[in-house]
Amino acid sequence: MSLIEVKNAYKCYGKIKKHSVYALTDVNLTIEKGEIVGLVGESGCGKSTLGKIFLKLEKLTSGKVFFNGQDITNFSFNQMLSIRKNMQMIFQNSSNVFNPYFTVRQVLSEPLNNYFKLSYEEKEKRMTLLLKRVGLNNSYLERYGNELSGGQRQRIGIARALILNPEFVVCDEPVSSVDYAIRNQLLTLLLDLKHDFGLTYLFISHDLSAVNKICTKVVIMYLGNIMEIIPRMDENVEHPYSKALLAAALSADPHNRSEKKILFKETDEIFVPKKGCAFQNRCLYAKEICKNKKPILTQIKDGHYVSCHLCKI
Ligand SMILES: Nc1ncnc2c1ncn2[C@@H]1O[C@H](COP(=O)(O)OP(=O)(O)OP(=O)(O)O)[C@@H](O)[C@H]1O
Ligand SMILES: [Mg+2]
Repeated sequence: MSLIEVKNAYKCYGKIKKHSVYALTDVNLTIEKGEIVGLVGESGCGKSTLGKIFLKLEKLTSGKVFFNGQDITNFSFNQMLSIRKNMQMIFQNSSNVFNPYFTVRQVLSEPLNNYFKLSYEEKEKRMTLLLKRVGLNNSYLERYGNELSGGQRQRIGIARALILNPEFVVCDEPVSSVDYAIRNQLLTLLLDLKHDFGLTYLFISHDLSAVNKICTKVVIMYLGNIMEIIPRMDENVEHPYSKALLAAALSADPHNRSEKKILFKETDEIFVPKKGCAFQNRCLYAKEICKNKKPILTQIKDGHYVSCHLCKI
């Protein structure tokens, strides 16, 4: 069953040098209940924007957002109140999100105060339970944000996102600010919490091995467009951009240095072409049709979708 969905989503942020900056161009994505959807692509391709659009933290320029089958695109602030507690976000660097001069108790009680009328004891019980679930004891309630390590702050960020018992959580680079060992602990924690609380995640990451570890399907974006959706990270990708992205990730791995291949044209300036495929300027295989006609995301196999004129043959 679809939990959250965007249809024909366009997001344009203002105008720069007469060119509109389209952070999203005709994006269609459905996330089913219980899925962990990975969202990957190079910096600036629109991953965080898409996450915020799902949560209605950013407004669409055009298109629709559905939550549990309900069109919430034009919901007012008051209408969103009943829904907002079901959708939460975990950020890359939780220290930017909460005030370092607030205690963990203040940070965790804020959402509870906003949405529920709970007694002091009920709040303490809920906060202690969540802290325990993220691997911290209740002595942390007295700590200030600036007295926590990066890993502990991420755990508090996770506890804060889950304290209202949401159905859907956008994890925006949740493990990018911590070292490898902590990263693995946090990924295992996110997986455990997903199972225990019946959560659905959109997992945004540059780290393809993290995506491989936890995601049930993976969405590959380039310049505001979905290029490919694969049912698993080990599925062979078809889109020239996806191939380049995975090759770049492999070449960053010291064990695969010899594999380094250039799979796209280097350009000084990356811009969205006025028509045709968004990747045409960097694609080594681009044909005339790629310059003139925008490809449509099309299913080529079960759960595998590609937006490329050359992949459908
Ligand atoms: N508030 C804003 N105002 C203007 N432009 C914005 C704003 N937020 C994002 N953008 C632009 O929209 C595009 C997509 O940004 P977004 O943050 O969604 O990318 P991203 O894929 O999350 O990048 P990163 O991997 O670096 O986090 C970029 O060109 C960015 O500069
Ligand atoms: Mg981002």
